[in-house]
Amino acid sequence: MPEISRSVQNVPHSRIRELAEVAMTMDGVLRLFFGESNLPTPDYIKQAAVAALADGYTFYTENAGLPSLRRAIARHYEKWHGVELDPESEIVVTASGVQALNVTLRSMLDPGDEALVLTPAWPNGSSIVAMSNAVARQIAHPLCGDRYRVDFDALEAAAGPRTRLLLYTSPSNPLGWVATEEEQQRLLDFCRARNLWLVADEVYDRLFYAGRTLGDPVPSILRKATRDDAVTVIHSFSKSYCMTGWRVGYLIARRDLGRKATQLNEFIISHAPSFAQKAAETALECGEPELVRLLHRLKENRDFCLTALNQMPGVTVPKPDGAFYLFPKINGLTDSFEFCRRLLVETKVGLAPGVAFGAGGEGSVRICYAADRSILGPAMERLDKFLRAG
Ligand SMILES: Cc1ncc(COP(=O)(O)O)c(C=O)c1O
Repeated sequence: MPEISRSVQNVPHSRIRELAEVAMTMDGVLRLFFGESNLPTPDYIKQAAVAALADGYTFYTENAGLPSLRRAIARHYEKWHGVELDPESEIVVTASGVQALNVTLRSMLDPGDEALVLTPAWPNGSSIVAMSNAVARQIAHPLCGDRYRVDFDALEAAAGPRTRLLLYTSPSNPLGWVATEEEQQRLLDFCRARNLWLVADEVYDRLFYAGRTLGDPVPSILRKATRDDAVTVIHSFSKSYCMTGWRVGYLIARRDLGRKATQLNEFIISHAPSFAQKAAETALECGEPELVRLLHRLKENRDFCLTALNQMPGVTVPKPDGAFYLFPKINGLTDSFEFCRRLLVETKVGLAPGVAFGAGGEGSVRICYAADRSILGPAMERLDKFLRAG
């Protein structure tokens, strides 16, 4: 009997999804395991999609996405980062951030190659590496005092002749860690010196609480890199604009990779949905006031959960500067999946187990604080009681 390919069989199941599947058989679960807010997409974006449908955006578009959306993305980078991009060759619209990551990694890896992945991280990066018949070498962020750092010594030790790329996420899912400018520069120098691709997942760049004003993005790695550097940035409309179900993202890449990703799009998905691209364009152009409102809400939620967690027994939790996750370490915890399963079954609080996020994740749990306070409040109370009951 023909068998499923080994590279595909080797792709591990998502342990977040495994827990979510248990939760989906239950009523009344306080769902904090997925990376999304329970806010619907703002009306102005929905209306833009309806108008786009009425205007005939129901046909195929370019593989690289609508030129008007790519121009809007270029204007966005000019405005926020002072970075000039060529919308013709350096920006490729994709059907989600995960598809941007998929086509990017696929364009860099040959079978047997290795990828350095900074973890704990959203598991999809390492899984896409496995799907490409390559090997992910996970390098855990050490926690030094109250801040995660990059372990450059471990990176040096892990880089070998088959290493082709380094993938990091800033702001990080699940840590909320944001790379400092010095860390960005060292990551770039590291990759330049070894002829590696640097892939920066910046999908949470607008969810940043430590800028001069709320609404300032995290400075992109593109401010440091030249357009000839082997750097690709992954982006999504899912998080900043509450558009998880719309499936629109993009990548910014060196021209040759941009052209190849455009061509490969044809064979993967062709392009993101036409009317959703139009709606994404409106989100970029008109979304600032709504985004700042979202940031105020997220920051309050973060601080509320931090205060609650800091009073729980055996919990250590660094204050994150970005994204919408907290990743508390629980003293003595060795099986975070079993902990989350019990917490779910006994208290109906759904968290993501730290083990799902790779090296450095076990012993912690991930809380997505993008939910309403009416969900976060009882969830924190029940977690506290559960921990106190041992
Ligand atoms: C770090 C990171 N990158 C990329 C994505 C992809 O987002 P989407 O595929 O919804 O655009 C996610 C979603 O959770 C994420 O956490």
